Amino acid sequence: MATYAVNMIVYILMFLSIITKDVGGSAICWTKTDPEHIRIALRPTGVTISWTTCGYWDFWNLINDTPTPQVAYGTDPKVCDKLSSYNFTTSYNPYPIVKRFFHNVYLDNLDAGTKYYYKIQETEKCVRASSILSFTTAPLIINCELQPINISIVGDLGLNTYFNNYEAEQTIIAMKKYISISNFFMHIGDISYADLYGAIVNFDFYEDTWNRFQKAIEPITSIMPYQVLPGNHEATCLQLSDKVCPQHLKNFTAYNNRFHMSGELSGGYKNMWYSYDYGQAHIVMINTETDFKDAPSGPGTTLNAGNFLGIDSQLAWFEQDLIEANKPENRAERPWIIVAGHRPMFGSTSKAQVQIAGYPIIAPSDNCAACRDAFLPILCKYGVDFFMAGHVHWMELLYPLDCNGDVVANHFNNVDGVIHVTNGAGAAPTGAETVDTADMYRRAFFFGGYGFQQLEIKNCTHATLHFIDSSTKQIINSTDVVRSRSANNI
Ligand SMILES: *[C@@H]1O[C@H](CO)[C@@H](O)[C@H](O)[C@H]1NC(C)=O
Ligand SMILES: *[C@@H]1O[C@H](CO)[C@@H](O)[C@H](O)[C@H]1NC(C)=O
Ligand SMILES: *[C@@H]1O[C@H](CO)[C@@H](O)[C@H](O)[C@H]1NC(C)=O
Ligand SMILES: *[C@@H]1O[C@H](CO)[C@@H](O)[C@H](O)[C@H]1NC(C)=O
Ligand SMILES: *[C@@H]1O[C@H](CO)[C@@H](O)[C@H](O)[C@H]1NC(C)=O
Repeated sequence: MATYAVNMIVYILMFLSIITKDVGGSAICWTKTDPEHIRIALRPTGVTISWTTCGYWDFWNLINDTPTPQVAYGTDPKVCDKLSSYNFTTSYNPYPIVKRFFHNVYLDNLDAGTKYYYKIQETEKCVRASSILSFTTAPLIINCELQPINISIVGDLGLNTYFNNYEAEQTIIAMKKYISISNFFMHIGDISYADLYGAIVNFDFYEDTWNRFQKAIEPITSIMPYQVLPGNHEATCLQLSDKVCPQHLKNFTAYNNRFHMSGELSGGYKNMWYSYDYGQAHIVMINTETDFKDAPSGPGTTLNAGNFLGIDSQLAWFEQDLIEANKPENRAERPWIIVAGHRPMFGSTSKAQVQIAGYPIIAPSDNCAACRDAFLPILCKYGVDFFMAGHVHWMELLYPLDCNGDVVANHFNNVDGVIHVTNGAGAAPTGAETVDTADMYRRAFFFGGYGFQQLEIKNCTHATLHFIDSSTKQIINSTDVVRSRSANNI
């Protein structure tokens, strides 16, 4: 208990000292303001467009300023003659100063490979129309023809701090530089790290950190899908313990309100686990935090979140989803199967991230044995091509691995096995991690700085993994992956 108290004090002091000056905007809309944090997510034949507003005061109450969220869109920026179909608004923080309204609308039945323009509509009170923005839908794939897509993947990205050498911003600048050659982005957990700022000033900093981060990535999220999955830092309002958090900031609540993935449409659950198709890829987002046996952020753990549907539902869904994706007609159309989850199963291990006088303040992020037990048997059974993880703050590419985690071959040219990548190098507020034990047996490529990766899918047999260094904005490694898929789809 004493240890816990010391940890807590040091921790609070540390983050008090690094909070930056710009503490968000005013919660009170005296005049019309812009819709904020505009973000796009994929739907089977379209997109969800979401944004945030801050409401207006009506004497004692904070009132929703957008009773009917609406987006006008079309393929001609001058016309935008169609209106979004379904709409809904959520909010979770009952305290007016920090309360926000999260609006979502659906644009369905869009044409493939088409550029759409859209504009969030003005409301009667408080909210101005957005500027005219645009996004492009996924290309239509016919057989195995060359129709390349690039999926940009970032993990563990927050705001600038002393510990990350103020380099989180560099990652966001690098990501922006790659927008024109990205079809969409994936953020594979640990989004903003609001829970490191949580305890300060009555938890208002928790919301404020989320707001600042979503504002920082808006230049990306407003013009292409930004697909998210849950990391440990989304679980609750304070990473050290859930106990001090108010009910409305526990249990992935902010995360499930501030983004809207179409979980249910794939038989998944909210933003927690779901799957989708894009070009020649089928992508499965899993939840390594809760909803399986000994899940690291599950009920009774420090973060005490979930289970949302018990310990079996997610795994049953995961297997069923892969069985479906592996049906010959589906695999022929979308041969690349990518599974993404926050915690890695294999790879090098790290030292404690922040130590003061040799005393570990923040524990290392490590491989997850419980995740391996739960997901690996299914992952390796259905010919999955990639497992994309984050969590550990570096980038490490492993050779293709079998169901025991053994290396199938020391190359990527037409071999079976799942290619595991750990990519938590976005720039966490706690900084990069240092290697304790290097896994030289499995390691193909390693980078200890900040960055993100791009998975380039060229056609149904050829892909390339690119790793980008945030500081130079350059590709530092491109590894070709060939899967001829002649015999039973590999
Ligand atoms: C928005 O949602 C409300 C309630 O769900 C519904 O009555 C209304 O028709 C919807 N408006 C649009 C434009 O979809
Ligand atoms: C994908 O990215 C690679 C390298 O970053 C680039 O050479 C290629 O042109 C990109 N392809 C598309 C379709 O943007
Ligand atoms: C988290 O939310 C789910 C779904 O509402 C609920 O079943 C579960 O009990 C909650 N977990 C905790 C620890 O409150
Ligand atoms: C890139 O990584 C591959 C292994 O995936 C390695 O063989 C190659 O040498 C690396 N290239 C550079 C420039 O680091
Ligand atoms: C797939 O792309 C690779 C690399 O660009 C190329 O060599 C191969 O011929 C292509 N396959 C098909 C079927 O187009």
